[in-house]
Amino acid sequence: MAKVKSKWVCQECGYETAGYLGKCPECGAWGSFTEEVQSLQKPVAFLDDIKPSPLTDIHIGEEVRIKTNISEFDRILGGGLVQGALVLIAGDPGIGKSTILLQTGGELCKSGKKVLYVSAEESSSQIKLRAERLSINCDNLYIYPQTNMEAIKAQIEELSPDIVVIDSIQAIYSGVISSSAGSVSQIRECCNFLMQIAKTKNITVLVIGHVTKDGNIAGPKVLEHMVDTVIYFEGDKYKSFRILRSMKNRFGNTSEVGIFEMKSNGLSCVTNPNELFLNERSQEAIPGSAIVVANEGTRPLLVEIQALVGTTPYAAPRRVTNGVDTSRLLQILAVLEKRVGLNLSKQDVYVNVTGGIEVDEPSADLGIALAVATCARDVVVDSQTVIIGEIGLSGEVHPVNNIEKRLNEAALSGFKKAIIPYANKIKSDKIEVIPVKRLIDAISACVSNVGSV
Ligand code: TYD
Ligand code: MG
Repeated sequence: MAKVKSKWVCQECGYETAGYLGKCPECGAWGSFTEEVQSLQKPVAFLDDIKPSPLTDIHIGEEVRIKTNISEFDRILGGGLVQGALVLIAGDPGIGKSTILLQTGGELCKSGKKVLYVSAEESSSQIKLRAERLSINCDNLYIYPQTNMEAIKAQIEELSPDIVVIDSIQAIYSGVISSSAGSVSQIRECCNFLMQIAKTKNITVLVIGHVTKDGNIAGPKVLEHMVDTVIYFEGDKYKSFRILRSMKNRFGNTSEVGIFEMKSNGLSCVTNPNELFLNERSQEAIPGSAIVVANEGTRPLLVEIQALVGTTPYAAPRRVTNGVDTSRLLQILAVLEKRVGLNLSKQDVYVNVTGGIEVDEPSADLGIALAVATCARDVVVDSQTVIIGEIGLSGEVHPVNNIEKRLNEAALSGFKKAIIPYANKIKSDKIEVIPVKRLIDAISACVSNVGSV
């Protein structure tokens, strides 16, 4: 029988020690160590027969892409799934991870691929129910309710599928390690196992990962390091939009996004997201609303920023954000106070991005500032105007990238005017361009009754 020894592992970062520690010396987490028993069986050698070779002797094999035929998914993958890639899809419970991968499995089967869907969380009949809802019915899609990694490996060898889906990495375990499923050692071991399968058998493996309440993928960061592609599934669970965001991609562009809508028969691609994000907006201009053009990957997205400013009943005024970074808002408020003379010291400020999406781009600064300023003074930004620009601490407006693309998108969505940074000044015959050097100029340019600001 193989010898066993125990070790203590930090569940946050994977740091290992021989005894218990209250605080992790690696990541600083408190009370994160748990004891894990490990067998001393020698791990199987990985690609043992490969020898180093000079760079000049290496020939690039043709990269085989498998189209999923789900256009938004293909787009964030950089044109389809790469054969032999290990892809991690992470997101909150109930966001639609199992749905998108079952849909992907169905589409791949239609194009003649063999798919093995390993369900470690749901029974076969539960998957069948979901498949019926999604109108998927094909005999090349194998459903396998299993949690044991060794059994999964045996089935992969027997079936030799083109694509394997693991739902989810936190629910499967390897018999080599005695700690429970979901522990750092198990996740690492299972991921290693899947990596070997993907690389040695040239099978594409799609892995679902849960996220913790802080929004990180449960398990060590090492999981993100090991896989080829990391995709986050975001969105408001209570709204129908879902956004797939690629955070790491060894085979394509990162920061690309795919937009979906959850319907009663599954996720459907949203090809014109601007219609979706702006159609709830009232056609009349209202104080505290500004449209910004944020770049999401290669695609500009028009989103509405809303602000609410009012006298605070509290000792310290509130600054609450939804969809934008709070520290970014604090900086913009400081600039508005100092450079524009807007007194917000006794005002609560709430900023919200409609549509449940996150805008983390500095080009939205000017739009946020205008939403706050117009609400504070009860004036409006013209409803046909988009706002683009980053704000510096002295109140100057910095240029942004991809200005042409952003302007085209705004014009396509029917906007007539765009306030843009002076340094980005370009001529456009599709939309009237108003270049501004300073925040105060932007306020005067778009607000007709600005006298009191
Ligand atoms: P699911 O894929 O099970 O989420 P996850 O695997 O990320 O936990 O999807 C969960 C939600 O999606 C569930 O609350 C029901 C909803 N849903 C629809 O609205 N339409 C559908 O066609 C399907 C399959 C699910
Ligand atoms: Mg699920």
